[in-house]
Amino acid sequence: MIYDSVYGNTEKIVKTIEDVLKGKHKVELKQVTDAKLKDFQKKDLIIIGSPTHTGRATKAMQVLLNMIPKGFLSGTKVAVFDTSMATYFFMKGIIKFFGYSAPRVANILKKKGAEVTSVQSFFVMGMKGPLKEDEVERTKKWAESMIQ
Ligand SMILES: Cc1cc2nc3c(=O)[nH]c(=O)nc-3n(C[C@H](O)[C@H](O)[C@H](O)COP(=O)(O)O)c2cc1C
Repeated sequence: MIYDSVYGNTEKIVKTIEDVLKGKHKVELKQVTDAKLKDFQKKDLIIIGSPTHTGRATKAMQVLLNMIPKGFLSGTKVAVFDTSMATYFFMKGIIKFFGYSAPRVANILKKKGAEVTSVQSFFVMGMKGPLKEDEVERTKKWAESMIQ
């Protein structure tokens, strides 16, 4: 899993996924700033997680994704998630305007040749979180769906 997290919510999702997968699979966690191109190689599945920042992945995640050469990920399965703000009534327009980052990241990865197996958004309450109620449960289910 390669991830970024400013306030810790995305990291909490990552740790939850790790807990589900680690009994059955070897799981590696990489903070985006430590990730290298070789971390995308020879993996059964790569999970990419980033907070949504103005509709996109974080700057650091964008830098990493842009570093990947075209076609580099052909034959590689990737699942993508983001954390975004739960849509309160007054914010709905703003969130809709910018959109979520995971589908954008998925499109970038497809251009690099990846087979994107799943795209998901998880929600936080306000900028800093915490995660919305039930998101940890939803994360566990999402992780389980990847190993079936
Ligand atoms: C600079 C900045 C821009 C943001 N832009 C958006 C946005 O466009 N849409 C959204 O839903 N959330 C936005 N957020 C809220 C983040 O999604 C939220 O802080 C993040 O999910 C928390 O994850 P983290 O604890 O892993 O950093 C933004 C947050 C920051 C700091």
